[in-house]
Amino acid sequence: MPSSQTALIIGASRGLGLGLAREYLARGWRVIAMVRDPTSPAIREPKAEFDRALDIETLDIAEQNQIAALRRRLADRAIDLLFVNAGVTNDPNEPIGEVSTEEFIRVMVTNALSPMRVIETFADRLCSDGVAAVMSSGLGSVADNDGGGWELYRASKAALNTLMKSVAARRATAKQAFLVVAPGWVRTDMGGPSAPLDVETSVRGIADAIASRHGEGGVAYVDYRNRIVRW
Ligand SMILES: NC(=O)c1ccc[n+]([C@@H]2O[C@H](COP(=O)([O-])OP(=O)(O)OC[C@H]3O[C@@H](n4cnc5c(N)ncnc54)[C@H](OP(=O)(O)O)[C@@H]3O)[C@@H](O)[C@H]2O)c1
Repeated sequence: MPSSQTALIIGASRGLGLGLAREYLARGWRVIAMVRDPTSPAIREPKAEFDRALDIETLDIAEQNQIAALRRRLADRAIDLLFVNAGVTNDPNEPIGEVSTEEFIRVMVTNALSPMRVIETFADRLCSDGVAAVMSSGLGSVADNDGGGWELYRASKAALNTLMKSVAARRATAKQAFLVVAPGWVRTDMGGPSAPLDVETSVRGIADAIASRHGEGGVAYVDYRNRIVRW
């Protein structure tokens, strides 16, 4: 059945973000897909299929002034789901002591600071029972880090998780739910061809997890099967 709900998905050009946009369109939602290059063929394809249910907007999440401009552009839109998916990694084999300052800043700004700027900028635009979600990773769990590797990436997602908890704690009385999502290891440009999960399985599970937590309030760190992940 068609729904009047709207999802704002940041980083929807490919991989999990594009998969989330497709999943919500297939569920009858309206989707505002934020991409760095709105002419990219991958996001134009669902536009041909879903037409007016999909709006494609430009945003580089690391550009602070673009986030403020986006808020002004979307002034009249009510948002039921805000999902910040955009993320990057450096060379996962690089030990933290060998990471350049520039690379540290790039990964931390993209994965931790920028998503939280978006969440803070749009929190008051979320419907009262809406959901604000960020794409973290199982690698962001401090408790489950037994193996090392992906050291800067892990740290950036652990920072994202902590910041999401802080924002949710400041809004503890709201009915809005704050979700930190671990999508599993998924076959994308970042996940690589050996990953066990396809995009469709991961995003279907994520959308189901989000649906089950609408209107619950609070903050949770969950995987694509809606299982709790240890912080
Ligand atoms: N795949 C996995 O196994 C896995 C596991 C755990 C967590 N994750 C997380 O899931 C998210 C999506 O990953 P993926 O596997 O789909 O990776 P991907 O295929 O490399 O896609 C990354 C997405 O992030 C966007 N992005 C990167 N920097 C951006 C910026 N500055 N502004 C706006 N968009 C930006 C990219 O846009 P462009 O096309 O413009 O570059 C692209 O849409 C990431 O946060 C990642 O850390 C993935």
